[in-house]
Formats: sequence, structure tokens, C-alpha cells
Amino acid sequence: MKHFIEVSDFSKEEIISLIEVGQDIMQNPAKYGDAMKGRLLATLFYEPSTRTRFSFEAAMLRLGGQVIGFSEAQNSSVAKGESVKDTIRTVACYADIAVMRHYLEGAPKLASVYSDIPVVNAGDGGHQHPTQTITDLLTIQMEKGRLTNLNVVLCGDLKNGRTVHSLVKALSKFENNTFYFVSPKELKIPDYIKNHIKDSLFFEMESLEDALPMADVLYMTRIQRERFADPEQYEKLKDSCVLTKHKMILAKSDMIVMHPLPRVNEISEDVDSDPRAVYFPQAKYGMFVRMALILKLVSEKENSAENHEEHRHELYSSCSNPKCVSNHEKLEKVGFGLLDKENHVYACEYCDTYYAV
Ligand code: NCD
Repeated sequence: MKHFIEVSDFSKEEIISLIEVGQDIMQNPAKYGDAMKGRLLATLFYEPSTRTRFSFEAAMLRLGGQVIGFSEAQNSSVAKGESVKDTIRTVACYADIAVMRHYLEGAPKLASVYSDIPVVNAGDGGHQHPTQTITDLLTIQMEKGRLTNLNVVLCGDLKNGRTVHSLVKALSKFENNTFYFVSPKELKIPDYIKNHIKDSLFFEMESLEDALPMADVLYMTRIQRERFADPEQYEKLKDSCVLTKHKMILAKSDMIVMHPLPRVNEISEDVDSDPRAVYFPQAKYGMFVRMALILKLVSEKENSAENHEEHRHELYSSCSNPKCVSNHEKLEKVGFGLLDKENHVYACEYCDTYYAV
């Protein structure tokens, strides 16, 4: 059974097909109006959300299905101390597919291991957000007409911004994309992402003005206050990357500005009326591509024989990342995948934290 925990769960062809189905749904919504009739989607949101949860719920309802779930874990048995493992085993008794957002890195992955229904990662801590990525890819395809040969400037909190991590992994599957990572040095893109895209061209910079003239796509992100251990550090960095109408003069006339939203103040409101600003259409595309995702996962589960894949590689006892789900649930072992044979680098199966041994 397939889950969607990170973008590499799908091949490039599967991602292209999702985008094509999303486009077809946009053009022929009536064709899909009953496709999920009689099926239930469960939304398990342990962290706040507007677009992701509403777009999943709207997606399922527009496919003729129904929705159950919680948007505040404190209203569920989580408040009584229930583990992620037990919650998903219970939800799988009622629903056909589950969408989980969690503040712990790797929680949806852990849920998928114990689930009899497809699990979708709707954002896990500062780690990954693959369904925002398929939203972003559909947006780029619609607005730029291609997913290749792009200069992509990513700006803001690249350390904690999970949407950036998943998007970069996905765009590196497509030919000839170049990445410009713009952030203060305290918020640089993690090493495991750089390792993942080592065959692509990328640059790390601190000035948005320097990168802007190159951009075909500018992807802005907010500084993620909730991921900072030190509030003073947040105050120091919160205004480090701000896009203004004035700076837009530096950009190409056919560049697009994207943002997963919510915006805090990293894009001034006077940019909203610029035709290059596509962050609100981007939110709308998200619903269509999530409809395509639900269709794919539910129909593949119903049409395929069960297979239990074994993902684990080398086994150690624990992960050193305090935000990793493996340090918050009772687990016997944590798997570490071998990333780099030569340098003996391993990564935690849940949160991708690096280990060189
Ligand atoms: C993002 C998220 O939750 O990671 N929002 C979203 O899903 N559209 C971005 C963010 O919170 O900054």
C-alpha cells in the first residue's frame, strides 16, 4: 500500500501524472464529483493549519466523499496520552485514508508503519511537507508552463521551512533547475537536502537583491517563529528577508512570486497587486492536486494486493534529534539509512538527521 510521506515516495512519472490529473479535475470537475462516494477521509491535525486542512477537506467533499477528524489534538485522546501508533490504528478502523500534520518530525512516517490505510504527511515539524510541494509544482506548471530549466530562488527560513525542503527535493528530479538559497546564515538549508540535490547546481546567498534578477520562480517563506528555542534569536532574524514593491523592479517581467502562506511580513502587501504574485492562486491549485492525490492513493489501495515493504537498513537504538518522533514514542529500534557509502553517512528513517560513523 502506498503512503505519501515524502516526495521520493513517488517517481517523477507519478508526480507528473498527479499534476496532469489535477489539471484535468480543474477543467472537468463534474467528471470527478462521485469518485470518492462512500469513502471517508480522516484529518489528524496536531498543529495549526488553514490551507492544508481546508483544501484536503474541500478536496474530499468535491470528490463526493466525507470527512472526519480533529484540528486540535487536545480534543482527542491525545490529551489522555495516546501514542501516534495507537491513534492511527484506531482511525484506520473507520476511515479510508488519513492526512496527518504533526509538530514532531517523522510522526506521519511512524503512523504509516502502523496503518492499514494510506497516510499522507501534511507537514511534520520543520522536516517535510510533500503535499504543499505537489501544490507548488502544479502552480509552476500552470504559471510558467514547465518544471525544467528554471532558476528557482528560495528565500527566508530555509532551515525550518518544511515546504522548501520537499520542493527542492522534487524540483531536483526535473532537468536543469538551478537553486539559489537566500537566508541569513543561521537559517541555512539543511545538509541532508544539499546532499540530496548534489547533482543539481545550487548557490547559497544572503541578499535577496542579488538573487532576484536571476529568478524565474521566487519562493518566499516566513521565519518560523514556533521552531525557535530562543525568542531573542527570532526577534533578531524575523525581518531578514522582506520582498517589497520596490525590490520587484529588479525581477524579470515573467518571474512568479510564490509563498505557501501564511505570510507574516516577508512580502509587503503592496506586492499583492503585481501580476507576478501568484500566492493566492497557488492556494487554490492545492485543492485540485490534493483531489488527484486522494484518488490515486485510495484507488491504488483498493486495486492492489497488500505488500509490506521493509524500509529499515542499519539499526541503532535512538536518534539524537529531540524533535524526532522516535524520542517521543515507545519504539524498540530506529532505522538509519545509508546515504553516503564512502563517508559512512547515515540518516534517521524518521527525521533524516545525519550520522557520520
Ligand atoms: C506551510 C506549512 O505549514 O509548513 N503552510 C502551508 O501548509 N501552506 C508554511 C508555513 O507554515 O510557513
